[in-house]
Amino acid sequence: MPTKHILSTDQLSEEEIFDLFVQTDRIRLPGNRYTSLDGKLVGLLFFEPSTRTMSSFMAAVKRLGGDTIGWSSPNTTSMEKGESLEDTIKTMSQYVDAIVIRHKEKGAAKRAAAVSDVPVINAGDGDGEHPTQALLDLYTIADERNTDKNRHVIFRTGKPLTNKDIDGLTIFFFGDNRYARAVHSLKKLLGLFDVNILEENLYFDPETFSGDASAEVQKQKQSWDKENYIINLGQADVVYITRLQKERWPGGWFDTGSPASRWYAKYQHINKEIHFGTGDLKWMQKSAIILHPLPRTDEMKPAVDSDKRCKIWQQAKNGMFLRMALLKSLFS
Ligand code: CP
Repeated sequence: MPTKHILSTDQLSEEEIFDLFVQTDRIRLPGNRYTSLDGKLVGLLFFEPSTRTMSSFMAAVKRLGGDTIGWSSPNTTSMEKGESLEDTIKTMSQYVDAIVIRHKEKGAAKRAAAVSDVPVINAGDGDGEHPTQALLDLYTIADERNTDKNRHVIFRTGKPLTNKDIDGLTIFFFGDNRYARAVHSLKKLLGLFDVNILEENLYFDPETFSGDASAEVQKQKQSWDKENYIINLGQADVVYITRLQKERWPGGWFDTGSPASRWYAKYQHINKEIHFGTGDLKWMQKSAIILHPLPRTDEMKPAVDSDKRCKIWQQAKNGMFLRMALLKSLFS
């Protein structure tokens, strides 16, 4: 793995990815204790809300024997008094051995890396990238496809994951493909492999929004190509679902009373038809899997979770193991 700054999935080679997956497999073995981060302090600087990324990074650091400091809201920092992101990061890099940053602005992690004296990991920057999410997604995809189910139980006798566990797959992205950074990063990673990508954007393009919420809902209902959606579901080995990334749409779009917020209120009604629910499971292959980076809203119904093809909770769990492996290699 690179020794400094993990900002984009662009940086990663196939070899580095599979090295990381071997480490992830090893870390998943029950009963092992790690001390790789003994005496290390990691700054978790979250300028935007998070459940999974922040908690799994915190769990990863602590399970490796390290500790964390940081915040989950910028309101408690001197940025409230007007301090710049650069000065905030430069200061924090005097105290910690690595920084994990999430920010609402695309490019914020790169700005942080430019001034930091310690490695910076991008934990999501606006509608830019979310490289560790993409890595855990790809790990989950390969792990689910690999037929050696004892691989990470009896590590030494199992065969490691390879491109054979990814090549040939069809991945169907369903949701807000325009603004979901998890989709952007995963697509870049998948670009290293021989895969087929299908897409269905669940939400319209804000640039063509007429301002008439009712008309837009009608337009969307009419343009919904259910037949094509069913065909895509039938072809997919991986159905990757994302929510509407409301907070990423152009400034003020979803403020109370705005045209987009009125559209969204109406959209909830048609979403009774346009979402992934138990009725869609029958169109999928038996061997296919369903992933979602989470959080979810109404684009994927919780009733789907009990289907054995739904791997969203294993995916979230893999996030902790993958981040452990990543931190371990960063400090080795
Ligand atoms: N998948 C993901 O990034 O979730 P959080 O926003 O909860 O961290």
